[in-house]
Amino acid sequence: MSARAGGQGSARARAAVARAGAALGDPRARPNLLWLEFLADAPAKTLAPYLVELGEATAVEQEIRRRHREAGRPNYAQFRAPFELYALVRHLRPDHVIETGVSSGVSSAHLLLALRRNGRGVLHSIDLPTRQRGPTHGARETPVALPPGRESGWAIPEELRAGWDLRLGPSELRLPELVDELSSVGLFLHDSRHTPAHLAFELATVRPKLTPGAVVLADNTVWTGQAFPRFARSLGVRPLARGRSDLVGLRVPAPAAPRGSDRARGRAPSGL
Ligand SMILES: C[S@@+](CC[C@H](N)C(=O)[O-])C[C@H]1O[C@@H](n2cnc3c(N)ncnc32)[C@H](O)[C@@H]1O
Repeated sequence: MSARAGGQGSARARAAVARAGAALGDPRARPNLLWLEFLADAPAKTLAPYLVELGEATAVEQEIRRRHREAGRPNYAQFRAPFELYALVRHLRPDHVIETGVSSGVSSAHLLLALRRNGRGVLHSIDLPTRQRGPTHGARETPVALPPGRESGWAIPEELRAGWDLRLGPSELRLPELVDELSSVGLFLHDSRHTPAHLAFELATVRPKLTPGAVVLADNTVWTGQAFPRFARSLGVRPLARGRSDLVGLRVPAPAAPRGSDRARGRAPSGL
């Protein structure tokens, strides 16, 4: 965590995420606080309590790890910022979260955990599963291939699955159908097919339902060219990468105030 996370609250948060990271067994999961503050548009002291909660949920992390080990995938390639996902959903309290790309379900599990703690909101996940070809995982096979006998989200603890909306199939088909059904999207995570055209398609599809202040994330942007920066420019905002990685995010701005309105003149509306 960054040096800006000073004080007692952040010492507790640091200890908590260290416990959660050890339980999950993924050192990359250590949260990047600057990135989190940028996306949440909130200071570290506001976000620290959510990170503290993760230290109280280590049984969930242990169960995710146990399921990976049991499937013979202790070093499974998984989403690298699960704790930031948790804190963002706790902070934003969205009604609807969409992710594309589930695989074992590390990202899904942390989104579901946060929604359960919020006591409201639904996770809609889309996955076109890639299956392992034989009984053992080939060295040249994609690390996200499902082990034999497993289905999308196979590492998600049972107790988090209630209310989860999992839709199997290509996001080229499932995402437009889903977006049509929803009134709003408060967080969108792209982690499916990493091509420029596909990311651009997903961002354009979800855009009409993004709420002001919604967070949009895309992983593996090293393969998606200008799709994310172009989307950020079209919204008039700056994207930010998580440290030196190619996991990037942005925050959707509030719509511009109509010309001549109190907000456009920089005045508080009457009644405040
Ligand atoms: C990188 S993995 C997702 C990892 C996951 N977010 C996690 O936390 O571990 C990508 C997943 O997207 C799936 N996928 C690939 N192309 C897709 C598409 N066109 N639509 C939906 N899912 C797709 C892959 O089969 C795989 O299950």
